[in-house]
Amino acid sequence: MTVSAATPSKTVLAGGGEGTVPAHVAIIMDGNGRWAKARGLTRTDGHKEGVDAARRAVEAARDLGVTCLTLYSFSTENWRRPAGEVRDLMGLLKQFIVDDLPRLKREKVRVRIIGDRENLTPDIKALIRRAEGETKMNSAFTLQIAFNYGGRDEIARAARAVAKRVQDGVLKIDDITEAQLSEFLDASDVPDPDLVIRTSGEMRISNFLIWQAAYAEYVFIDVLWPDFSADIFNKAIEEYYGRERRYGGVGGKAE
Ligand code: IPE
Ligand code: IPE
Ligand code: MG
Repeated sequence: MTVSAATPSKTVLAGGGEGTVPAHVAIIMDGNGRWAKARGLTRTDGHKEGVDAARRAVEAARDLGVTCLTLYSFSTENWRRPAGEVRDLMGLLKQFIVDDLPRLKREKVRVRIIGDRENLTPDIKALIRRAEGETKMNSAFTLQIAFNYGGRDEIARAARAVAKRVQDGVLKIDDITEAQLSEFLDASDVPDPDLVIRTSGEMRISNFLIWQAAYAEYVFIDVLWPDFSADIFNKAIEEYYGRERRYGGVGGKAE
C-alpha cells in the first residue's frame, strides 16, 4: 500500500518522551474458545463476548487517535471448524452489522470488510454492501473487518486480477511492480499497519495481512480476547513507542 497516512498525532509518554501514534493498528483477536472453556461455556459464548471486546477496541482506538483499526474476525482457514461454530460466527457478523451500523454511522466511522466475499451467503454480502455504502463518506476513522480473509488468498486474487489486465492488454508485464500489485489488494487506500497485536499468547501470524504487515511492529499479549480492554490497548501502544523502526536501514540511533 502506497498511500501515506495523515500527519500522525504525537503523545507524551509517562517517561516524558514522545511517541507517534500508530495510524493503523491491526488485531488478531484470539482466545475466545479458551476463555469460554475456562468458564464451562460454549465456544459460541466466547465469540459473543469477543464481539463486546471488539467494540471496546474500536472505542479505545478512536480515543488514542488511531485512524484505522483492522480486526481479524474470520480467516479463510476457519472454515475447518465445526459447521455449528462456523454458522454462529457468520451469524455474529450479521448481528454486529445490524446492531452497530446506526451507532457507527453516528460516530462517523467508515466500515469496510476485507477478504473474499464471493463465497459468503447473499444476505451477508448484502449487509456488507450496506455497511460499506452507508459509511463510505466517513474519513476520520476506518474500521476494517477481515472476514473470510487470508493473506495468501488476497495475494492470489490480486495476481489473478493483474494477470487479467495483462491478458486484456491494458498492463505490461514489466509494469507489475510492488506498488502496482498492492493496488489490487483488498484495501489499497489505507496505510500499511504500523502495529499488529495478537492476544491469547500465541505467537504466529495465521495468514493475516502478510503483504501489508511486512514492516509492522508485533506485540503479543498474554490475555484472551474477551478480556481485552482500553488499558491493555494502551499498554500495547506503549510497547510500540519503545520500538525503533528501521525498514532495513541503520535507524536514527545508529551513528
Ligand atoms: C478467535 O478465538 C476467534 C476466531 C478465530 C473466530 P478462537 O476461537 O480462535 O479461540 P481459541 O484460540 O480457540 O481460544
Ligand atoms: C486467527 O486465529 C484467525 C482469527 C483471529 C480470525 P486462529 O485461532 O484461527 O489461528 P490459529 O489456528 O491458532 O493459527
Ligand atoms: Mg484461536
